[in-house]
Amino acid sequence: MAALCALACSQAPEYGYTIKNNQIVYNTPPRPADQQSMLGFAAEPIDHDIRIGLIGLGDRGTGAVRRLPHVEGAVIVALCDLYPDRVERAQKILEKNFNYRALHEFSGPEGYKDLCASEDIDLVYLAVPWNLHTSMAVYAMEQGKHVAVEVPAATSIEECWQLVNTSERTRRHCMMLENCCYDYYEITCLNMAQQGLFGEIVHTEGAYCHNLEPFWDGYQGDWRMTYNKDHHGDVYPTHGIGPVCQALNIHRGDKMDVLVSMDTDAFAGQAIADKRYGEGVVEKYANGDNTMTFIRTRKGKTILIEHSVVTPRPYDRMYQLQGTKGLANKYPNEGIAIFDQALVNIDSEDLEAENYLPDAERDAIMEQYKHPILKQFEEKAREVGGHGGMDFIMDSRLIYCLRHGLPLDQDVYDAAEWSCLVELSEVSINHGNMPVVMPDFTRGEWDKVKGLSFAYAE
Ligand SMILES: NC(=O)c1ccc[n+]([C@@H]2O[C@H](COP(=O)([O-])OP(=O)(O)OC[C@H]3O[C@@H](n4cnc5c(N)ncnc54)[C@H](O)[C@@H]3O)[C@@H](O)[C@H]2O)c1
Repeated sequence: MAALCALACSQAPEYGYTIKNNQIVYNTPPRPADQQSMLGFAAEPIDHDIRIGLIGLGDRGTGAVRRLPHVEGAVIVALCDLYPDRVERAQKILEKNFNYRALHEFSGPEGYKDLCASEDIDLVYLAVPWNLHTSMAVYAMEQGKHVAVEVPAATSIEECWQLVNTSERTRRHCMMLENCCYDYYEITCLNMAQQGLFGEIVHTEGAYCHNLEPFWDGYQGDWRMTYNKDHHGDVYPTHGIGPVCQALNIHRGDKMDVLVSMDTDAFAGQAIADKRYGEGVVEKYANGDNTMTFIRTRKGKTILIEHSVVTPRPYDRMYQLQGTKGLANKYPNEGIAIFDQALVNIDSEDLEAENYLPDAERDAIMEQYKHPILKQFEEKAREVGGHGGMDFIMDSRLIYCLRHGLPLDQDVYDAAEWSCLVELSEVSINHGNMPVVMPDFTRGEWDKVKGLSFAYAE
């Protein structure tokens, strides 16, 4: 017999789950009558510089202040943070580097509402703590603004649905700023995958493995450690899941169907909390040192996603595409292995060997399959920087698509599907690693679009 959800019952029941046959089955509520699908949605072109209102001027938001004015067709017109001195710090960066100050400035916990209400803003760009992403994104869309929101866009299934429903009802874009999709290795491998170089992609991996020890003190109000100490699960899944979902055409021909999550105990996590807050003050640090999530898709593919932020280790996103004819494996050596000579221009016996290509041949293939987006933006991206240039490329594509009235590279369903792992992985772990049948944010349309494509102006 189906048991009504217990854990997720702080949220509206239509977004919850039932337990059937030892599986947690999430509900997919029907689309309300006043909403339409956002698949392939393109807004009217914007025939002037995109006027950006930036909310959250901590580490990430300040990086955006340094970066966005370099993007062709972008101008920051409004700044907002909890603290006025952070707003002034951002104004000084604009003044010093770009010779202007933003027209509007707002501060305090509700200042974002005035920013969103400003008439002369096209895009609200959010770089605030996780718990504020969805409420601010929803508010901005309600005020008629397109939204770009940092990762993860939402931390619960209910929030994922709020983003989808609001975007569908208001016909405003809601793009999650998943920058790793624009890393030169990931986007080149995506191009290779789309050209069939790896054959059929059957298995993928991705991760966020980053020892945050040097960063914990920097998060305003300790928001990130607080979230980790209170939650199990993959609390930061999108850098890992985003690029591999693109390669697997998730909601463009396939769908993530069932997941199982498992974590270690919090050995290092508890030790860090004891050191940070005093021995025993945090009775039980929740987030496991390593969290693994296994996902199977409707079309029989698999995904492995990991999260690890407290143990000492080299940075690693574990990006891997395994196909029937080849393999891309980014870490540690950006390996590419191809087993089909017919598909590449280089003349190498190594192509037939079951091993990674030597560096020079790997570099030649990467050059041959360079993604058009890289060709368009990489030169300036190298100058501007921001995680090796991928942040600038992401911003440039967002602004380019808005100005030309094109569908964005990442839509609101991507934001919801990639972010929903936060809750689903936690629920699986809290039920003894029980399989979770995932909701369908496209409401049955996941097979309607055939493959991911990127839009370009004529
Ligand atoms: N994509 C990436 O590579 C990447 C990298 C770092 C951070 N991030 C994301 O960026 C976001 C911000 O992270 P961060 O490291 O800059 O954190 P941070 O703590 O340095 O900055 C958050 C800022 O938000 C402000 N803020 C809090 N409440 C506010 C409110 N009500 N109104 C306006 N401002 C408010 C804070 O004062 C602070 O300045 C997070 O979602 C994080 O996951 C993404």
